[in-house]
Amino acid sequence: MKDRVIIVTGGASGIGESASIKLAERGVKVVVADINYDGANDVVKAIKKSGNEAVACKVDTSSKDSIQEMIDFTVETYGTLHGIFNNAGIGAMTPFLDLELKDYQKIVDINQTGVFLGIQLVAKKMKELGTKGAIVNTASIYGFVGAETSAHYNATKAAVVSLTKSAAQALTKEGIRVTGIAPGFTKTAILEAVPEDMLKALEQFHMRGKLLTADEVADVAVFLFSDESVAVNGSTVLADDGYLAFK
Ligand SMILES: NC(=O)c1ccc[n+]([C@@H]2O[C@H](COP(=O)([O-])OP(=O)(O)OC[C@H]3O[C@@H](n4cnc5c(N)ncnc54)[C@H](O)[C@@H]3O)[C@@H](O)[C@H]2O)c1
Repeated sequence: MKDRVIIVTGGASGIGESASIKLAERGVKVVVADINYDGANDVVKAIKKSGNEAVACKVDTSSKDSIQEMIDFTVETYGTLHGIFNNAGIGAMTPFLDLELKDYQKIVDINQTGVFLGIQLVAKKMKELGTKGAIVNTASIYGFVGAETSAHYNATKAAVVSLTKSAAQALTKEGIRVTGIAPGFTKTAILEAVPEDMLKALEQFHMRGKLLTADEVADVAVFLFSDESVAVNGSTVLADDGYLAFK
């Protein structure tokens, strides 16, 4: 993966932070993109301290203009582009009957439309540049099942699973492989809103009886960017320590 240029959205924290560090360790020039610019900068500093290459970029993945600016910034900085980890996302916990339309639309804008635009705009730029590579999208185990307190979140993640299939069909002929990753419950900032007793109960649904770490999930994402995973295309790989094997 040496000298490939890959954008990681949600790169300031959790799974995206870990994936940024791991991709950079493999020689990738990483654009650490996040709505939290200071956090992205901290990740870049850590990557550079290890002698690897990265640059920070502010992005709001709910905005088409912002995503396009991120892509243009990437090409201005590194001269090329080989893929994106569409990973930025927000969580949600609202009982189904209390769900307001504005909250539903907000999560769709970030978790779903942001992923669609990330795939499409990056693929258009790669076609223009004549580069080949890979796109990985972060879904969730919740993209495969329902949950009464996060219907909107689950719907966006199911959409990511579906978009991954359609985009792979459209983009393989352009030399772009598109895959997804579906983490189980992973110890990151996104779970801070989940009550401790609920998290404890969720641990038991993972085969090892504990939550995943961001590093464990990021390892799978890095594999999906690597040439060792050419056999995987259009599918969303479960990184869930067996969570869905129980369901
Ligand atoms: N942690 C879990 O249990 C879990 C499980 C399944 C899926 N996921 C998914 O993994 C992805 C990464 O989440 P995480 O667990 O690392 O959480 P996290 O909160 O640590 O990281 C999410 C990052 O996304 C950024 N972000 C949020 N909104 C943004 C926007 N509009 N534009 C740009 N950046 C934005 C945040 O600033 C943050 O840095 C998300 O898509 C999440 O839905 C997480």
